[in-house]
Amino acid sequence: MADEKAAPRHVGVLTSGGDAPGMNAAVRAAVRGCIGLGAAVSGIRRGYQGMIENDLFPMQLSSVGGIINRGGTILGTARSQEFMSKEGRAKAAANLAACGIGGLVVIGGDGSYRGAHALHKEHGIRVLGVPGTIDNDIAGTDYTIGFDTAINTAQEAIDKIRDTAESHDRVFVIEVMGRHAGFIALDSAVAGGAEAVLIPERKGDVESICKKIEAGRKRGKISAIVIVAEGAGSALEIGYLLSKMIGVETRTAVIGHLQRGGRPTALDRVLASKMGFAAAQGLFAGLSDKMVCIENGKIVYRPLSHAWKHKKEADMELLSLVDALSI
Ligand code: F6P
Repeated sequence: MADEKAAPRHVGVLTSGGDAPGMNAAVRAAVRGCIGLGAAVSGIRRGYQGMIENDLFPMQLSSVGGIINRGGTILGTARSQEFMSKEGRAKAAANLAACGIGGLVVIGGDGSYRGAHALHKEHGIRVLGVPGTIDNDIAGTDYTIGFDTAINTAQEAIDKIRDTAESHDRVFVIEVMGRHAGFIALDSAVAGGAEAVLIPERKGDVESICKKIEAGRKRGKISAIVIVAEGAGSALEIGYLLSKMIGVETRTAVIGHLQRGGRPTALDRVLASKMGFAAAQGLFAGLSDKMVCIENGKIVYRPLSHAWKHKKEADMELLSLVDALSI
């Protein structure tokens, strides 16, 4: 399928923004995909910051051996302030030009896409984005790499906390990640059988959670689990309010960055492999300024700008589902 005129002879691969389990599987697929199509590949360390600092290294097929099962990213990642300026991007583009890199695979979230878009516009570098973030908050794609692992990690933590919550008749408020989006909170609340969930998209009130818990207590349901996305409030504060308002013994747990690490699930590995490979194929077919998306199980390419021009809506029906199933 390679378009000879369009095919970049040398491709750079980087991961950028918050890391996500499955990024390594995407790196592996992009590197092997590009080499299979006849290009040389360089890895770029620490995202755009490494590009500015010329922290590049040649990658072979063997460079990505044994990484499909590893969390984190072997390339390292960063959020580069310097790259946000035109001067920073010019420095980065000059480093790419010096080693003949004409195409880039950027694995990250929408902030990383903005950078890729700017490189494409200002310096004509061909860029393909691959959505890697545990938050699953990129518009245009049903799933992002890392989300499935993160919700499984959260669910495992919730299961463990439920054991002790039930033994002690306690209410637990568990804070999961999601500074701007409630996707992790919603899915892990359903999977963990929570009594209530708070998300940034629709801030619920503590009073209605109190009512719910009190109604449960009247029926003999003493322990309860409340899930809070970090962007919807602090577990500590909400736990304190609950204990004040209904006088129940409350404990809190912040799962935090545990959700960003660990071995990627099979689902994330498959998604990352499909997407990383599709990025390589897209570059060789002459595409640029596009992101690889998955829609109803099929790979599609969308403009990078889709990620910041649209907002991915959380499934609000999950809020009602949590409510309906925890009576
Ligand atoms: O990766 C996305 C995310 O996990 C958000 O949910 C969270 O708010 C943020 O990253 C925290 O990232 P960091 O600690 O790297 O700033």
